[in-house]
Amino acid sequence: MSAGAPLICPSILASDFARLGEEIRAVEAAGADWIHVDVMDGHFVPNITIGPEVVKALRPHAKIPFDVHLMIAPVDPMLEAFREAGADWMSVHPESGPHLHRTLRRIRELGAHPGVVLNPATPVEALDWALEEVDLVLIMSVNPGFGGQSFITSQLRKIERVRRLIDDSGREVVLEVDGGVNAETAKACVAAGATALVAGTAVFRGGPSAYAANIQALKGA
Ligand code: DX5
Ligand code: ZN
Repeated sequence: MSAGAPLICPSILASDFARLGEEIRAVEAAGADWIHVDVMDGHFVPNITIGPEVVKALRPHAKIPFDVHLMIAPVDPMLEAFREAGADWMSVHPESGPHLHRTLRRIRELGAHPGVVLNPATPVEALDWALEEVDLVLIMSVNPGFGGQSFITSQLRKIERVRRLIDDSGREVVLEVDGGVNAETAKACVAAGATALVAGTAVFRGGPSAYAANIQALKGA
């Protein structure tokens, strides 16, 4: 199911934090499919961003799904708060807790779509025994923590390998890529089998009047 235009998921990390509600409304109007929310704790990754209270405040500003990328450890104690705040998709790193399978089941139990995130050096084998529990696999094409980094091209091979695993599973699983995605790298990601693209810099560059064209350029991939 890799045919067709990819879902475009603007990462609000690159938006104007003083005007978050407006920014979300603007990218939704510009054609975004999902809102990607990067949650960082200053411990699992070297940066601090958004907590459940902010997600809750933002939720009424858009109708499209909130794709919440949890870069926090331990992650389990925070799942319920993010779900209650309005997270529709919740993705976790295998390194962010001792029992990945339990974490994924818990996300499902809370009524959200579970996802697993692979860092650039995390092997595809981390998906063994977990793939059947998820609705999404997120491949990090930068090391998590900051926007505006360059795409790590070795991750294209990982996208291809995960594409094959998903196809073999016969299940509908979104294959998402995050980090350094621009019109050019987007093309390579889609060719490798990605069905959803996270983009911060490439969407928010140029301000609100540029968002529709920026999103179109990524979809054109
Ligand atoms: C990095 C985040 C990404 C990042 C993407 O930890 O997960 O979502 O904000 O930003 P760009 O598109 O600027 O690389
Ligand atoms: Zn992210």
